[in-house]
Amino acid sequence: MFQKINALVATAAVAALLVSGSAFASGPVKIKFSHVVAENTPKGQMANKFKDLVGERLAGKYEVEVFPNSQLFGDNKVLEAMLLGDVQMAAPALSKYSRFTKKLQIYDLPFLFKDMAAVEKFQKGPVGQELLGSIGKKGLVGLGYLHNGMKQLSSSKALKVPADADGLKFRIMSSDVLAAQFKAVGATPLKKPFSEVFTLLQTKAIDGQENTWSNIYSKKFFEVQPYITETNHGLLDYMVVTSKEFWMGLPDADRAVIKKSLDEAIAFGNDVAAKKAMDDRKKIIDSKRTEVIELTDAERAQWVEVMKPVWVEFEKEIGKDNIDAAYKSNM
Ligand code: LMR
Repeated sequence: MFQKINALVATAAVAALLVSGSAFASGPVKIKFSHVVAENTPKGQMANKFKDLVGERLAGKYEVEVFPNSQLFGDNKVLEAMLLGDVQMAAPALSKYSRFTKKLQIYDLPFLFKDMAAVEKFQKGPVGQELLGSIGKKGLVGLGYLHNGMKQLSSSKALKVPADADGLKFRIMSSDVLAAQFKAVGATPLKKPFSEVFTLLQTKAIDGQENTWSNIYSKKFFEVQPYITETNHGLLDYMVVTSKEFWMGLPDADRAVIKKSLDEAIAFGNDVAAKKAMDDRKKIIDSKRTEVIELTDAERAQWVEVMKPVWVEFEKEIGKDNIDAAYKSNM
């Protein structure tokens, strides 16, 4: 794997030289931003805002092209494509970086963060910032975290306690932590691309999935899942990423404007995320297409008890100190 990544990095270096050499001679430099979600989501809106800001500030020099809904690449391909120079920016979920670093698996640990304020606190702190740099050795640059929100469990069956999930099949992102989390409740996890989830649910090839309110709403999962349990059991957060070669190939002044635009777009996207988590939840409930199940404290405690041992399983790869620091951000 390392050899493959190194080869990709070398190819990207050549591609970046070509880009910087011929940059402005033939029109604006294109910054392709690929993502998998709908435009009307926190990530979709962040990407469009970024496009607008760069368009205002660097008109004629740079042009951001946004490709939503897995139109250009799914998350299983996008990072390799980035190292080859086929796409310049993306923001995969933190769960999708495990081929590049095991440390980011921390964000998948069930029931680690009690809310988004704790996530924000941790990410702004020294350990969160160090983790942002954890993909740096593989030719990628983490430019910033972006929020979506807490995940809920949707299913063909009403899930109140962990035993209700026993024997069911759940789609997960490509994360071993998420696989362990579902195995802990006796369910079967299946790693599948986001673009396939709706059809898998609709055809009943799988029984359920976990996602945020905005993804469940914008991709209409609630129309093909009779139950959604409001578990808030895990986090869906992103890292906006680019290739080192592309990024370092930019003139300093342009890079600074692009980074500032991105930071502002991320702040905007985070506000959208907070608002959509509430609004899309309400729209789903009001649709009456699905039943939203709220857990009692005793029921929730059962999920915590069954899933939390996953932390120990991944402690070595993630680092116990990192987990402790994340846990402290709840206080
Ligand atoms: C998923 O695959 O469920 C999410 O990563 C999709 C996304 O980017 O929000």
